[in-house]
Amino acid sequence: MEIRRYRPTDFDGVQSLWEEAFPNDPPWNRAEIAVPAKLAFQPDLLFVAIDGGGVIGSVMAGYDGHRGWLYAVAVQEDCQRGGVGAALVRKAESALAALGCEKVNLQVRASNEAVARFYTKLGYAVEDRISLGRRLSAEP
Ligand SMILES: CC(C)(COP(=O)(O)OP(=O)(O)OC[C@H]1O[C@@H](n2cnc3c(N)ncnc32)[C@H](O)[C@@H]1OP(=O)(O)O)[C@@H](O)C(=O)NCCC(=O)NCCS
Repeated sequence: MEIRRYRPTDFDGVQSLWEEAFPNDPPWNRAEIAVPAKLAFQPDLLFVAIDGGGVIGSVMAGYDGHRGWLYAVAVQEDCQRGGVGAALVRKAESALAALGCEKVNLQVRASNEAVARFYTKLGYAVEDRISLGRRLSAEP
């Protein structure tokens, strides 16, 4: 298993992975929108895990000069619980730290307790915040 920067030939693998891992995500999180958008901005913060020539995991990070954020952390279902998710998070953390980032944030759906346990195991703490958001454009 290798973790490396995303390449254009990874698109189909990432798309299938996200369809499996995030079946209920809104349309604007789909690979055909989110991947090109990421490649236009901090493209070196999109990583994939490759095994047997195919994509088995992904992580997207962003740094705004103040905080780093993680998105799209996913591992193919039949490859889970083997350390791939942890390795992806560590890879993104290293890339953020290299940019000067000192704190990483991420959001997990309140109903997704298993994923919260995954992040807790990696040293993340649940913080007493309310997550707010507003779309700046009409929904696609
Ligand atoms: C969350 C996810 C990325 C974890 O990937 P993974 O490769 O299975 O994780 P790892 O094997 O690296 O696990 C690291 C540690 O987290 C813990 N962990 C992982 N999945 C867990 C789960 N479902 N429940 C409880 N603990 C879990 C394990 O304790 C593991 O430590 P261990 O090796 O000592 O057992 C994977 O389950 C996934 O893709 N889920 C669907 C997509 C998703 O919800 N992503 C999160 C978006 S915020």
